[in-house]
Amino acid sequence: MNLEVVQIAKKSEADSQDIKERSQKLFGADFVVSRGKCHKPAELDGFVARQYTELVGLATYEISGDMCELVTIDVFLQWQGIGKKLMEEVEMEARMAGCKQVWLITTNDNIEAIHFYQRRGYDMSAHYHNAIEESRKLKPQIPLVGNFGIPIKHELEFRKNL
Ligand SMILES: CC(C)(COP(=O)(O)OP(=O)(O)OC[C@H]1O[C@@H](n2cnc3c(N)ncnc32)[C@H](O)[C@@H]1OP(=O)(O)O)[C@@H](O)C(=O)NCCC(=O)NCCS
Repeated sequence: MNLEVVQIAKKSEADSQDIKERSQKLFGADFVVSRGKCHKPAELDGFVARQYTELVGLATYEISGDMCELVTIDVFLQWQGIGKKLMEEVEMEARMAGCKQVWLITTNDNIEAIHFYQRRGYDMSAHYHNAIEESRKLKPQIPLVGNFGIPIKHELEFRKNL
């Protein structure tokens, strides 16, 4: 794919409907749970990737003090460099806001994301054993089994110094 036709822009009000639909499709609800907290991607700051007018990826984040949580990153045309570009935008934004670190949560089944984050300089900083049991109390739609048939059980935290 020609990445030049993919434009990355700050998420705007106009993207909210597309993001809600995408969240519903990917996460089974309009919210995600990390460390026991619910987040609605459509209401967070973020970046969208569009190929012409079509949404092909998005990343959302939340800044608190000098920390930035990457809440979601979701690319529909995978492994073509879009995720990398979205991460770079979030990191730049976090740096400009005075953040020292970007952190994120993924689950134990998400082998490809774990690969992706480590290649982008993220280091595993914590492992929350069986945390998904608690998350399911807030969001029963979280499937029992995830990527590659792996049971979804644990939250893994990754951090990168900016
Ligand atoms: C994980 C995700 C965000 C990565 O974005 P992407 O646009 O597909 O990835 P990119 O093309 O920018 O980056 C590719 C990198 O990922 C790595 N990678 C991991 N698994 C890969 C695979 N199956 N094929 C190709 N590259 C892979 C490559 O090593 C490459 O890194 P490198 O260029 O440094 O060698 C994206 O695939 C995605 O949306 N996955 C589904 C949703 C998800 O799991 N999100 C994370 C939730 S925690």
